[in-house]
Amino acid sequence: MRMTQLLIAAATVAGAAVPAIAADPIAERQAIMKQNGKDTKALVGYMKGETPYDAAAVTALFTSMNNGAKAFGSKFPPTSKTGGKTEAAPAIWEKPADFKAAVAKFQTDTGAAAAARPASLDAMKPLFGAVTANCKSCHETFRVKEQ
Ligand code: HEC
Repeated sequence: MRMTQLLIAAATVAGAAVPAIAADPIAERQAIMKQNGKDTKALVGYMKGETPYDAAAVTALFTSMNNGAKAFGSKFPPTSKTGGKTEAAPAIWEKPADFKAAVAKFQTDTGAAAAARPASLDAMKPLFGAVTANCKSCHETFRVKEQ
């Protein structure tokens, strides 16, 4: 399982087609979220001034998140409610229109941040705020905490 997730993560990063072996929607959506976590952490480095500002690198991070957001919505077939270790909340399947809207908002906000190509930290700050507001709002309703 762990190796499968690594393979999927690698494929996601490379932007390559997911190999047939990786037809595991739970692992695929978790790999997308793990990448979100990494990308956000890297962006926090710029926000805190720990990493010297780099417009191209910041744009690439927003683009990576946008690619994940585009793929994310298709990783929730009804067969993936259970059958693996997942933190996906039942609300995803109980309120599909709301979940779809949350995914669409994440796509829009990450897409806008990437398209803005923020030239400075000051330009990046509000974009970072808009993008990361999605994490909390979606997780509150659509992700269950591990017990
Ligand atoms: C549209 C909804 C949505 C948005 C937006 C969202 N997440 Fe998630 N996230 C989820 C769901 C659902 C899960 C649980 C997936 C599962 O376990 O099947 C999750 C899981 C995670 C995980 C755990 C992955 C793992 O299994 O190791 C991390 C880390 C994470 N999200 C980070 C983020 C960050 C950072 C952002 C914002 C930049 C974000 N998420 C935005 C829905 C969302």
